[in-house]
Amino acid sequence: MDALEVLQKRVSLTKLIEPTPGKSQLTDVFKAASRAADHGKLRPWRFLTIEGDGLSKLSDLLVSALTKSNPGVSPSVVEKTKNMPFRAPMIIVAIAKCQEHPSIPKLEQLLACGAATQNILNALFALNFGAVWRTGDLAYNDHVKQALGLQALEEIVGFIYVGTPAQDIPAPPEVDIENIFSEWPAK
Ligand SMILES: Cc1cc2nc3c(=O)[nH]c(=O)nc-3n(C[C@H](O)[C@H](O)[C@H](O)COP(=O)(O)O)c2cc1C
Repeated sequence: MDALEVLQKRVSLTKLIEPTPGKSQLTDVFKAASRAADHGKLRPWRFLTIEGDGLSKLSDLLVSALTKSNPGVSPSVVEKTKNMPFRAPMIIVAIAKCQEHPSIPKLEQLLACGAATQNILNALFALNFGAVWRTGDLAYNDHVKQALGLQALEEIVGFIYVGTPAQDIPAPPEVDIENIFSEWPAK
């Protein structure tokens, strides 16, 4: 696939199995992330890769954060949360490494990290891997953030579930292009 085809055809894939990207493929993926638009070249991002036993540790962490923040949570939600990290053989945690800056607000740094994360999805798709970007309440949970080593101004922008697609790649939905752009001033 050429670059434009990747950008136009990428879809989220949720049925993901081994193998995961190897070291050199991950290097390419994170190089692509690093080319995100980035006001002030602050590079406001970093990424954790979690695999194998790390997924079990993440599962324990999510369950303990969930039950701490919501002691009355139902057993079915606990079970669902416990299983979440095992939906793929690898998770990339995308972290916005924000800083106080005189002219570049935190919002712009979060956007830059979001752009880097989208580049990760596109790069993985170009390498024939599947991925899906997820968040949920636990991405914003202080206990989770602290246990994953986030600093005061850092935020989890997404949990990117990664693996080899165990499904046919669906065609992306048709888009009504005419509806998303127009000329200004109108003619
Ligand atoms: C910041 C962000 C958070 C998201 N969180 C979730 C999530 O928690 N669960 C989910 O099913 N999809 C989530 N999504 C949406 C999926 O990643 C995906 O984009 C959506 O299902 C559309 O599929 P597509 O990428 O194939 O168009 C999130 C997307 C973004 C950008």
